[in-house]
Amino acid sequence: MTEKNIQIRLKNRPDSTPSVEDFEIFQDEMPVAGDGEILCRSLYLSLDPYMRGQISGRHISGAIPPGEVMRGETISEVVTSNNENFKAGDLVAHQGGWQSWSVAQAADLTPVDRRIKPLSLALGVLGMPGLTAYAGMTYLADLKEGDKLVVSAASGAVGSMVGQIARIMGCEVYGIAGSDEKCRWLVEKAGFAGCVNYKTQDLIAGLKECCPEGIDVYFDNVGGDTLEAAMWQLALGARVVLCGLMAQYNTDVMPPGPNPATIIKARATVRGLVVYDFFDKKQEFLDRIIPWVDGGRIAYREDVTEGLENAPAAFVRLMKGKNFGKTIIRFS
Ligand SMILES: NC(=O)c1ccc[n+]([C@@H]2O[C@H](COP(=O)([O-])OP(=O)(O)OC[C@H]3O[C@@H](n4cnc5c(N)ncnc54)[C@H](OP(=O)(O)O)[C@@H]3O)[C@@H](O)[C@H]2O)c1
Repeated sequence: MTEKNIQIRLKNRPDSTPSVEDFEIFQDEMPVAGDGEILCRSLYLSLDPYMRGQISGRHISGAIPPGEVMRGETISEVVTSNNENFKAGDLVAHQGGWQSWSVAQAADLTPVDRRIKPLSLALGVLGMPGLTAYAGMTYLADLKEGDKLVVSAASGAVGSMVGQIARIMGCEVYGIAGSDEKCRWLVEKAGFAGCVNYKTQDLIAGLKECCPEGIDVYFDNVGGDTLEAAMWQLALGARVVLCGLMAQYNTDVMPPGPNPATIIKARATVRGLVVYDFFDKKQEFLDRIIPWVDGGRIAYREDVTEGLENAPAAFVRLMKGKNFGKTIIRFS
């Protein structure tokens, strides 16, 4: 019997949690490497939450239409190579997809670092999820020794690496996870200082107990109520890294309020501002801006009401948005 290429294709686009009926097994003809191409046999396939976004068409990497082979990173062995840079037996990482064989261009293959053992780690702690955690901790979180860091989906590929990298960098690390078994593993094996099981404990109370002075760094993999709870517990000067949205991947109904997806997609920095912190800049501000006002470079409007007795009405107008410009009461 001639060998077939076993594939998993998307059958339907689910509007909630996917079921196995949304996928179908397909036996395709064996692919053949053309000129300059490389035939790869898949050894490991990474399954990741972002695939749910590809199924719904909301992920930044694009959509998978029904009927197509599911996409995904694989660790594969080169079987036939028509490219001088690769030879049979080489181990490579690439977007092999949910299939047992694939044909790739040399430019799309990355040799697996030979130090990675076991090989499957190239898809986990030493692969894309590990890099995600490393990037967050090294380049975005502005970690300081002694910071109290909280991470959600803490026992997962990204979360567990976030916590452990931060711990090794001198932080006190707490997790949010969905079972006692996960929490136990985080504390006993991964060196977390504590963990809140959000399914059995009050999350806000649990976070308060872990970080009574507040959370210095929050790394969010979930969004929704989990993000909301952690945000209420931020310490002064906290840093928040938004990474994932487990709470909303399985639904087409978006939670109310600003969606963290907008911040993640734009790689935006969001900062809280309280003017009190800048009172010592008052002189600098005046020295710089008065000449702009005097020179007519700044337009301004004032919404002036005469008489203190009219202040309540003016305030009501202000709060209804009926004012136009800075609301001022001129004492009669
Ligand atoms: N921004 C990026 O570039 C980037 C890169 C990689 C991954 N990510 C994101 O990072 C997050 C973690 O990815 P991962 O690969 O490490 O996955 P993972 O943590 O191994 O698996 C997902 C975990 O999310 C938790 N979870 C929390 N709320 C959930 C909900 N409503 N439904 C289902 N699961 C829920 C579950 O653990 P509990 O039992 O603890 O709830 C589940 O085990 C994902 O949001 C992913 O999209 C982002």
